Amino acid sequence: MTGFDDLETRLLIDGEWRRSLSGERFTTYNPATGDPVAEVERADRRDARAAVSSARHALESGPWATMTGAERGRILRRLADLLRAETDALVGLEALDGGKPVRATRRQDLPAAIDCLEYYAGWADKIDGVVVPARRDALTFTTRGPVGVVAAIVPWNFPLMNAVWKIAPALACGCTVVLKPAELTPLSALRLGQLALDAGLPPGVLNVLPGFGKEAGAALVEHPGVNKISFTGSPGVGRWIMGAASANLTRVGLELGGKSPNVVFDDADLDAAVRQSAAGVFFNAGQVCSAGTRLYVEDGVHDEFVERLAARAGALVVGDPLDPKTTLGPLISAGQLDKVLGYVETGRREGAALVAGGGRVGNRGHFLEPTVFAGAGNDMRFAREEIFGPVAAVIRFKGEDEAVRLANDSPYSLAAALWSRDLGRAHHVAGRLRAGTVWVNTYGHTDARLPWGGHGGDSGLGRDLGEAALENYTETKTVWVSLARPRAEAPRPEALAA
Ligand code: NAI
Ligand code: MG
Repeated sequence: MTGFDDLETRLLIDGEWRRSLSGERFTTYNPATGDPVAEVERADRRDARAAVSSARHALESGPWATMTGAERGRILRRLADLLRAETDALVGLEALDGGKPVRATRRQDLPAAIDCLEYYAGWADKIDGVVVPARRDALTFTTRGPVGVVAAIVPWNFPLMNAVWKIAPALACGCTVVLKPAELTPLSALRLGQLALDAGLPPGVLNVLPGFGKEAGAALVEHPGVNKISFTGSPGVGRWIMGAASANLTRVGLELGGKSPNVVFDDADLDAAVRQSAAGVFFNAGQVCSAGTRLYVEDGVHDEFVERLAARAGALVVGDPLDPKTTLGPLISAGQLDKVLGYVETGRREGAALVAGGGRVGNRGHFLEPTVFAGAGNDMRFAREEIFGPVAAVIRFKGEDEAVRLANDSPYSLAAALWSRDLGRAHHVAGRLRAGTVWVNTYGHTDARLPWGGHGGDSGLGRDLGEAALENYTETKTVWVSLARPRAEAPRPEALAA
């Protein structure tokens, strides 16, 4: 049913596949049909403790503790090769478990995950310190070692890719990891665990703990043996994690939500702006933390832009994620569909004009029409809050200052974009937008080499990807080696007498 003869659905702890200690399981569903896909072991607090112990043990003794960076890099590269060889099956698994259209996953998630592993494989033997000549009577230098046991807690919108964004840099730095996939999409993380073993990762270095946020997830957050929590998900859970982590002063990285502004000036290349702005809203059915769902369009091109965006929305192929022609898959769950439909209703009530979509598609699975509202305002709730569905709010503006003021008037700060043929203006406005990433004349790109994260507020703190992510998973040590020489001894009187 999953495309694998032998897909593991147990917990991966200490290199072994184990039943949950409670004996409980949970069901994972296909968002396109609502049918069950698999029964998965449901980790709770006791399993989380076992996983953290296993990660601690692997960190401190055993082959991982003494392995060189070059050897760690070779394992990451082998893991990348295994993902590459299994691309078709993994793409299918993400479609079944997460409702993600195969066409997009093949083009985006898998290549990005493989590239990320290879990128950090390259770093693994280049994580070094510096000699700091602080004193003449000492050799003083720094080293950078693994921060310790990492709890990686990831969401359901890019299950495999997001897991790799966390584990690749953590493993490159010599950490050990407990990965908690989202309860809605545990399957690709379990497969990743098997491939990591096949690639030669020693037991306990990567543990995979499917289960619920309030059980397995919270247990990891509260465990004093975890040295770093690396979380991607909702702002509400992010807040709770930061609070709970304070009990043990555990380090946290929080990649949270977004409601990204996408600013289209009058002088934009309108073809490109319409095309990519549509992708910025509808990619992955809008279930993207950086979705560009606040669309600010300047007066002079506003009406044409809205018309063309609505036409593009109408031309998307909504349907079975396993069909390569599909460009818009289902939402992740019935709950998510309800939530998004609720926002569509809110948009209507708040007085925005529905110019495309707005309704459910079919009565099987969780499909929603690609939806565009025009005449939205920054004060409208549906235009301020993260919807996490294929819903655009188009807001009219005039002039640079108004664009910047509206775009920055948000609790979020993950990403932003602007469209203009005037390069001077583009640079200037890019500098004024408060966001971790600004795209100019394009939308949505990420790359393993480029840091990714929010500029505070509800988008969180810290950076995934790039050299910046090495900071998350290393700690600096200062070493002071005394070079003081024993004081030159004065000649003894007896010696002089002789
Ligand atoms: P969530 O934040 O509840 O779940 C994300 C991950 O955190 C999952 O693995 C979950 O099991 C875990 N988790 C939940 N509660 C936890 C806790 N108390 N302690 C430790 N781990 C915990 O996100 P959810 O409910 O799946 O989605 C709700 C909304 O969050 C979405 O509609 C969207 O607005 C936003 N979201 C944003 C994402 C992003 O990429 N920034 C990803 C997923 C959701
Ligand atoms: Mg599922």
